[in-house]
Amino acid sequence: MSQIVPRPSLRKISPYIPGKSIESVRREFGLKEVVKLASNENPLGVSPKAMSVYRKASKDCFLYPEGASPELRKALAQFHKVPEESVLIGNGSDEIIRLFCEAFLDENQEALTSQYAFVRFRQQSLLMGASVIEVPMKNWKLDLETMAGALSERTRLVFIPNPNNPTGTYNSQKELEKFISRLPPSAILILDEAYYHYARLEKDYPESIPLWAPRLPNVAVLRTFSKAYGLAGLRVGYVVTNPETIGWMDRIRMPFNVSLPAQRACIAAIKDLGFLSKGVSLNLKEKVFLEKSLPQLGFELVSSACNFIFTKSPIPGKQLFQKLLERGIIIRPLDEYGLSFHVRISIGKRQDHLKLLKSLKAILK
Ligand SMILES: Cc1ncc(COP(=O)(O)O)c(C=O)c1O
Repeated sequence: MSQIVPRPSLRKISPYIPGKSIESVRREFGLKEVVKLASNENPLGVSPKAMSVYRKASKDCFLYPEGASPELRKALAQFHKVPEESVLIGNGSDEIIRLFCEAFLDENQEALTSQYAFVRFRQQSLLMGASVIEVPMKNWKLDLETMAGALSERTRLVFIPNPNNPTGTYNSQKELEKFISRLPPSAILILDEAYYHYARLEKDYPESIPLWAPRLPNVAVLRTFSKAYGLAGLRVGYVVTNPETIGWMDRIRMPFNVSLPAQRACIAAIKDLGFLSKGVSLNLKEKVFLEKSLPQLGFELVSSACNFIFTKSPIPGKQLFQKLLERGIIIRPLDEYGLSFHVRISIGKRQDHLKLLKSLKAILK
């Protein structure tokens, strides 16, 4: 028997369960065609302009990248009309969630978030030995009123995913303004806006960067290149917040956290507004289609501001997941969140949805 002893806080953490990959399903079930509707990726793939820059930049792979991604930082600062020192680039927004926890959480301190909030907030906060307060949701939405009541002098970080994964719900500008007015100066609010490009179609969704970050010192806005930009595989995310907060996180960032081709491809992606809007329009059209079709098969829907549907299945989620896998379709069961009948289905292309609906009909008949 080994004598290896992990940090005590590690025992509280279960490994993150990523969506199943297309390759693993092909191997496991001997299938040629597999449709993945499990990780909220972009069904249109990558912007051709970003791809061309990526290919060119890959010739320089023998070089270390510039550590702080200065060109991408500058491009994002210009895009958002904020100072460069207010932007930090991470290896996916996942790395930035981790950096927040490593820089600002310790034992006897608290991270505040919601029940059913994106699972990484909890995992990273527990790793630092902090307590995690998860306020129950109201109608599958973050209850900001009750969350504000749970703020204390021990609260160091507040995670508000807006909209939230996996529920797909969002909080309005008014609700957030009220919450921010009750935020103590010693707590940092992290607005995780991974699905910003889809959610901004909602009338009362806030434009948080011009409104609050970096204008308010303890509000941080987190964005990613993994969803609407279609660059999940390159692992790039960023945060906009006050330079002092960024300075603390920059000290512990991995020295070369984002590869050179990834940095350059992201600069090209920001400029390709055509690709972005094509993806957002397709998502809206296909969301309407699924929202009409799924209830006819007995699914209960929650209105989504994202590129996925959160729904209660007529049969247990794991069972549905398994039966769809056998037919070459990957969705996401949500047992990890303690939701045994709910599943998350990423929005793809029409042909993916037709295949999904046909399989669901056969499974549920
Ligand atoms: C709410 C939310 N935040 C953050 C992330 C992490 O994204 P990435 O690390 O790819 O930027 C995700 C990914 O699914 C997410 O749903």
